[in-house]
Amino acid sequence: MPSSISSSNQKVAIVTGSSSGIGFETSLTLARSGFFTYATMRNLGKGEVIKSAAAKEGLPLRVAQLDVTEDRSINDAVHSIISDVGKIDVLVNNAGYGLNGAFEDLAMEEIKAQFETTTWYLFRLPCALC
Ligand SMILES: NC(=O)c1ccc[n+]([C@@H]2O[C@H](COP(=O)([O-])OP(=O)(O)OC[C@H]3O[C@@H](n4cnc5c(N)ncnc54)[C@H](OP(=O)(O)O)[C@@H]3O)[C@@H](O)[C@H]2O)c1
Repeated sequence: MPSSISSSNQKVAIVTGSSSGIGFETSLTLARSGFFTYATMRNLGKGEVIKSAAAKEGLPLRVAQLDVTEDRSINDAVHSIISDVGKIDVLVNNAGYGLNGAFEDLAMEEIKAQFETTTWYLFRLPCALC
């Protein structure tokens, strides 16, 4: 039961960008390895696939909302997880995306948004855990 995790040896992991790709697979791998895993994603509507994959195998995995570019979303997720299970032992700061194209074809807003997502969040989430 989640409420007993803080007093057990089970480690708690949180993975960002778990709706697809590396984050999706890493969440399942951690859960299969015994971590109580929070597969986080900005759009919970994309969470059904990983939820049913975890349910099929009886894995200790929950889905939670977390947009790495929004302080409020980060803080809400961290507080909710801590109040649920009491701790976070492992953070996989995976969320992000690439931006393809020539500089002259890209808008400054697109470049800033990609930089913000793949750079600043690396500091935001660990800071929220302090
Ligand atoms: N695959 C590669 O060869 C490669 C190479 C270098 C670096 N990387 C990095 O490795 C990470 C995973 O890549 P991938 O190949 O697994 O790509 P992917 O399948 O596109 O997965 C990226 C994940 O990041 C999420 N994401 C994007 N912006 C977000 C935000 N603001 N808040 C929360 N989640 C957000 C996406 O969510 P949505 O579904 O909502 O978009 C998606 O779940 C990325 O950071 C990528 O830049 C990958």
